Amino acid sequence: MPFRHLAAIAALAVLLAGCQQRPSPEQEAAALDAFAVVEEVFQHPRCSNCHIPGDQPLQFDAQTPHAMHVVRGPEGKGAPGLPCSACHGEANSPASYGAHAPPGAPHWQLPPPDQKMDWIGVPASELCAMIKDPSRTGGKDLAAMHTHVAEDALVLWGWEPGGERVPVPVPHDTFVAAFKTWMDAGAPCPAG
Ligand code: HEC
Ligand code: HEC
Repeated sequence: MPFRHLAAIAALAVLLAGCQQRPSPEQEAAALDAFAVVEEVFQHPRCSNCHIPGDQPLQFDAQTPHAMHVVRGPEGKGAPGLPCSACHGEANSPASYGAHAPPGAPHWQLPPPDQKMDWIGVPASELCAMIKDPSRTGGKDLAAMHTHVAEDALVLWGWEPGGERVPVPVPHDTFVAAFKTWMDAGAPCPAG
């Protein structure tokens, strides 16, 4: 094959690769559907009880302020005199301690005050913009966020919350796959 044909094929390949980065309307619609799944999980009480704008974690599905005046503190680990770790361990309390014993998971705490990641109650468009902005998520890009939702201990706790707490209803692997579908289609945000 003459060289100029090869060059033309190579140019075409570059062009096609460029086109692929632009999602088709079908891909974009599928991505927005996938984002709705992401939103449902992020805003479920098992997640959003810690992802709050205020400084007091929330409790229960009713999302009432945490008892005992527990607060975020300078690093998200609670007040110096009453850290989260005083009550929350690396795992849920044994069932024999009763339904209202503290749940637990490694590094149980709130996000730090300068990176609150407060996605409770925000509209989908705002939640989407926040997730995509590394300056608001501790420097994490979308690939790092994807790893976090797939592997982080506090995230996984949402599916085994202990006591009588209701787990996140969307299966974990469905949620992680939805995050990837959305991310791979260029992470489009819903309007409004
Ligand atoms: C006990 C409090 C707590 C719960 C419950 C919790 N998170 Fe988080 N989340 C944090 C903290 C603290 C951080 C900050 C990073 C870190 O310390 O891991 C964070 C960070 C994140 C991040 C940003 C990535 C990063 O590394 O900073 C995502 C995404 C996230 N959480 C999703 C979730 C989802 C989804 C759920 C529910 C299935 C959830 N979180 C439940 C406390 C919580
Ligand atoms: C004095 C003990 C104590 C301290 C300190 C404490 N907690 Fe708790 N926490 C509990 C108990 C007990 C429960 C369970 C309440 C129940 O189920 O009735 C709980 C429940 C929670 C829940 C509710 C989970 C859900 O989805 O319903 C979150 C979130 C939480 N704590 C976060 C924190 C964070 C973050 C800190 C530190 C900033 C902290 N807690 C400090 C005792 C404590």
